[in-house]
Amino acid sequence: MEGKTLSINDEWWKKSVVYQIYPRSFMDSNGDGIGDIQGIIEKLDYLRLLGADVIWLSPVYDSPNDDNGYDIRNYQAIMKEFGTMADFDQMLTEVHNRGMKLVMDLVVNHTSDEHIWFVESKKSKDNPYRDYYFWRKGKEGQEPNNWGSVFGGSAWQYDETTDEYYLHLFSKKQPDLNWENPKLRKEVYNMMKFWLDKGIDGFRMDVINMISKNPELPDGDKRKGQLYGDGGRYFMNGPRIHEFLQEMNQEVLSKYPVMTVGEMPGAAPEDAVLYTDPERKEVNMIFTFEHMDLDSAPGDKWNLKPFELVELKENLAKWQTALHNKGWNSLYWNNHDQPRIVSRFGDDDPYRVESAKMLAACLHFMQGTPYIYQGEEIGMTNVKFTSLDDYRDIETINMYNERRALGYSHEEIMNSIYGKGRDNARTPMQWDSTDNAGFTTGTPWIKVNPRYKEINAKAALEDPSSIFYFYQKLIQLRKEMDIITKGGFELLLKDHSQLFVYERKLYDERLLVVCNFSGEEVVVEDEAVGTKLKNDHVLLGNYETVGTNVLRPYEVIVLKNS
Ligand code: GLC
Ligand code: CA
Repeated sequence: MEGKTLSINDEWWKKSVVYQIYPRSFMDSNGDGIGDIQGIIEKLDYLRLLGADVIWLSPVYDSPNDDNGYDIRNYQAIMKEFGTMADFDQMLTEVHNRGMKLVMDLVVNHTSDEHIWFVESKKSKDNPYRDYYFWRKGKEGQEPNNWGSVFGGSAWQYDETTDEYYLHLFSKKQPDLNWENPKLRKEVYNMMKFWLDKGIDGFRMDVINMISKNPELPDGDKRKGQLYGDGGRYFMNGPRIHEFLQEMNQEVLSKYPVMTVGEMPGAAPEDAVLYTDPERKEVNMIFTFEHMDLDSAPGDKWNLKPFELVELKENLAKWQTALHNKGWNSLYWNNHDQPRIVSRFGDDDPYRVESAKMLAACLHFMQGTPYIYQGEEIGMTNVKFTSLDDYRDIETINMYNERRALGYSHEEIMNSIYGKGRDNARTPMQWDSTDNAGFTTGTPWIKVNPRYKEINAKAALEDPSSIFYFYQKLIQLRKEMDIITKGGFELLLKDHSQLFVYERKLYDERLLVVCNFSGEEVVVEDEAVGTKLKNDHVLLGNYETVGTNVLRPYEVIVLKNS
């Protein structure tokens, strides 16, 4: 593959729909309660039927699983629980045989503390790997700066061997890599080539806009009542980030016809234009967090705030407009870090089916590359376990303990977890109504969502009006209609608190997407929209009959003007 001349088709990812698999929770083939690669292979025909073009696989690399594989011990080996390298190679072939592509997770902001580089780095100040990580002396017996870790506590861990601290923006088993070191960068590039030479089709890059830190590592601002400072502005979109991404592109990515998506907390549309402008050769698209943070107080994801549709519309419209003809958007409601969208911006009872379809249409008619997270296509919902013992996520467990110590009540904390906890997304995929939702014949590593008897893939496949077939239709329309991938975007009725209405335009073609984000009937009074509702031709809807100016609960109607 290397050296192949790239052509216009290299923008294949613009017409693609990506399906994300979280391997631990997808399908267990051998009854040990943990999803695995053979399990994924069993389900590839299901993904083909849905119409997914690309699979993004969360990490399958060797890992002690402090953060479910986002703490990598060996980048060039497969996690034992998931299978072997031979299983991986077989999966890649089977994916390609079905005309699909495979994108892997690239986690290079940090490694596991069990990675050989860190094991060496720890040994002494003059070890050749010392400078692969951030080591600093303490300041008056304290941590080198006041940064907090995303998973609670300080971002620094003291190590006796050399009487210094190392930096970990995530758990203390995830030490941050020092990208200032050119030797480290070279090793990462070689590792990327190892996978690309196997024929994988791209990378999703974990917190990639955090790899360039301000070398002074200054203290962050402290909000009232917080124990640690927020160093975000010293490590997000840092001083050398564009240089590093351009170097990575030149050394590696430009030689392969692949796609890249960078996960970028704290990136605004202006940053996104720089990251995704094709001329600049950095990445193809990024994952923004802005729309995912709208139902939390600023800087504190666990402090829930009611969701306001007007804010969501304003935000998504801003991204649609800012990147049009300049860069490229990713489109997502869900992933393994986010609660389930139908329980979040929709209604998981009684309008689960209607609202799941409405949300799907609302997102999939925008410009960008849509991502579907496993279970979203059958309308999987959030979960409410009453005991903390049933939770597995390190972020959730650390936060619980920290807040208990600060005096929060069990109920208060559980409410935050029900709203925002990552395990909402990580309960096993619901395949059928048999024990453990058909995910495993053993005991699952995390409990199944009790709603699996009603919500499962088998039931969805047997029902022609299911959410699954609605997604299938959306994916198909994206292939058929250039206006979805190329058209301009305009937000209508921007102050309306229940309706999300937008128009797409390409030459003399027009699409109107009208979404009711409420459980009430809403009369469309606006003349401009109302007239179109009466006269235009209905392309798609989520109720069996359509045609009036009254939108039913969570109804979506998509109209075409020809
Ligand atoms: C990303 C991943 C998340 C992980 C973190 C640290 O945000 O999506 O799951 O915990 O990075 O790697
Ligand atoms: Ca297994």
